[in-house]
Amino acid sequence: MSEVRRSKVKDLLEMKAGQEVLAKGWVRTKRGNKEIAFIALNDGSTIKNIQIVADKNESTEPILAKISTGACIAVSGTLVESVGSGQAVEIKAGEITVYGECDPMRYPLQKKDTSFEYLRTVAHMRPRTNTFGAVLRLRSQMAYAIHEYFHSKGFVYLNTPLITASDCEGAGQMFQVTTLDLNNVPKNKKGQPDFTKDFFGKQTSLTVSGQLEGELGATALGEIYTFGPTFRAENSNTPRHLAEFWMVEPEMAFFDIRDNMDLAEDFIKHLVRYALEHCMDDIKFLNDRYDPELLSRLESVADTEFVRLPYTEGIEILKKAIEDGVKFEYPVDWGTDLQSEHERYLVEKHFRKPVILTDYPKDIKAFYMKQNEDGKTVRAMDVLFPKIGEIIGGSEREADINRIESRVDELGMSRKNLEWYLDTRRFGSCPHSGFGLGFERLLLFITGMQNIRDVIPFPRTPKNAEF
Ligand code: 4AD
Ligand code: MG
Repeated sequence: MSEVRRSKVKDLLEMKAGQEVLAKGWVRTKRGNKEIAFIALNDGSTIKNIQIVADKNESTEPILAKISTGACIAVSGTLVESVGSGQAVEIKAGEITVYGECDPMRYPLQKKDTSFEYLRTVAHMRPRTNTFGAVLRLRSQMAYAIHEYFHSKGFVYLNTPLITASDCEGAGQMFQVTTLDLNNVPKNKKGQPDFTKDFFGKQTSLTVSGQLEGELGATALGEIYTFGPTFRAENSNTPRHLAEFWMVEPEMAFFDIRDNMDLAEDFIKHLVRYALEHCMDDIKFLNDRYDPELLSRLESVADTEFVRLPYTEGIEILKKAIEDGVKFEYPVDWGTDLQSEHERYLVEKHFRKPVILTDYPKDIKAFYMKQNEDGKTVRAMDVLFPKIGEIIGGSEREADINRIESRVDELGMSRKNLEWYLDTRRFGSCPHSGFGLGFERLLLFITGMQNIRDVIPFPRTPKNAEF
């Protein structure tokens, strides 16, 4: 092969014709006639392909015969102006090397079935499709934008543990971590499993949130964020729930609930703008292929002021809607959690823009939230988005040691397990706030995909841990 260095397809498409080039990638399609073969080559650097034009003759025929959709090849040749429409340049092939052939009879992406359901069964191969290439590039760009945003604001990136002995959200949806022999579990005097014999000497699980440790960071470093995997053993088979998902959790000393809302709104708008500025090829592909309103939805959220509304007023709006004939599957009552149909009604039908719902009943929210004077509600804030419902959950935190201790007792939680956390309130306690953004929920919004299983490379859901 030539001395020329390999260029990525993304760069080749921007280069001037006339140069000797080397491209490597996977064949999307091969077509042609008796004299000439056209190969569309993609290397994952962009949604676009580079076209390879190869003369058919005695020396090239045997190589071309090995090339079919999915095969991996290297092509050296001259970059020339393309006569065909659709691309400015193409490669006039000199030498072609086949790295890996791809049997058309067995290649899983060769099948006629290209439904998302089918592609989930071949999730190990689906990154090679245009759609998943676009989604995974967007996912990577958004991760970068998250780090860039917080670093530009002086936040410290804090790594919180994945294995933990505390249930941050108190919902009892944790995956246990154990090395005990399940066929022969050691028992204590009460006949219960003896976790002192377990690896960590106590009962441990995968974390549902990095928040509690995040608060330790914020009350020392000022402003921190976490960004990592979290785990929930909730048996929710919905298009919006994963058992393993990624969460971004900023936590800020001296922020009250209003500062918290301002940050959440600015953050999410920044991410949407970043996507519009840096990822237009992939967004346009998804817009044109699946969701013609994707672009306009993204643009409108980037420019709209979010509605801020207390939960109690949200309930009134929903009750009024029911009176006016709107049908919901689940009832609406003050004190119960909103279902995603209710959240989406507020966002999509009533206000037609994102809504930040605040001051929820304390009984449906976690123990750490700051209690309001009314004795009934807490300073919670959920950001609700079109098509998705809740995308962010957060709150101002209860900073008063007595109030938080009595809430822990009231909920029957173990104070002993939380002493380390309660020390933040004992020693130099400060007002502080934070929130968690579900990374895959954000990606549902950015990509317009319908199912959360299609915005993470290898989804984990009830009864599914393939690949
Ligand atoms: O509302 P949640 O449960 O809040 C917390 O975990 C807080 N500790 C966050 C904080 O204040 N630091 O979860 C936060 C977000 C939700 O708004 C949602 O976007 C996402 O995490 N989320 C899920 N995403 C996918 N699958 C699931 N099963 C999810 N559960 C929550
Ligand atoms: Mg929540």
